[in-house]
Amino acid sequence: MKWPFQHRTTAVDKAHVSFDGRDYRIDRGVFDPAVHLSGTLFATHLANQEWDGRSVVELGTGCGLLAGVLADRGASVVALDISESAVICAEANLSDTSVEVRQGDLLAPVAEARFDVIVTNPPYETRRSFRPRYSSPDFLSRLAMHWRSTADELVLAFPTDSIDVLDDVGFDLDLVARLPSSGRELGVFTAINQRVPT
Ligand SMILES: C[S@@+](CC[C@H](N)C(=O)[O-])C[C@H]1O[C@@H](n2cnc3c(N)ncnc32)[C@H](O)[C@@H]1O
Repeated sequence: MKWPFQHRTTAVDKAHVSFDGRDYRIDRGVFDPAVHLSGTLFATHLANQEWDGRSVVELGTGCGLLAGVLADRGASVVALDISESAVICAEANLSDTSVEVRQGDLLAPVAEARFDVIVTNPPYETRRSFRPRYSSPDFLSRLAMHWRSTADELVLAFPTDSIDVLDDVGFDLDLVARLPSSGRELGVFTAINQRVPT
């Protein structure tokens, strides 16, 4: 498969990733989806799924790449991030789309809303010494506990060599795709919200 991304750094110290003809600038301090690979791998996977007409909340949007891919395929998307730099960057990258970008912790900015799907490439480096802006040690455990009050389905990317981390925080997920890379293999995991009929 031809790698669909281009990655470049300009003289003014901004990296850029392009996908689907859309340019995403990566501001300083914002997760770079090409350098860390999980973002571009996950985006490529999501680009080949059916999204038309679905409502999606993308949790931890960074530069907005995943939200842009989903919106370009017909989803209505709210993109969330706790980081102010990420929100500013995503808003700039998605200004010509219908994506709504909001800042806040986990799903708090959409507390009253319901969506078909939560999509997330979560901060999975839990060592406190590793770039604190991307790490969030309790992100996964809080998401495992609370995601069902927001959506009918969860789609999450995570390294397959660390599946035990997902089990430990209480997720009950199915591995639906393995995305090999030159670094760690990325898994795509899903869970369906089995709501009790009222
Ligand atoms: C691995 S990056 C993924 C970025 C982007 N979705 C991608 O795939 O390129 C994780 C993102 O989650 C955000 N994040 C970390 N803790 C968070 C929290 N408690 N609530 C919301 N976002 C958070 C980080 O700021 C970061 O942008």
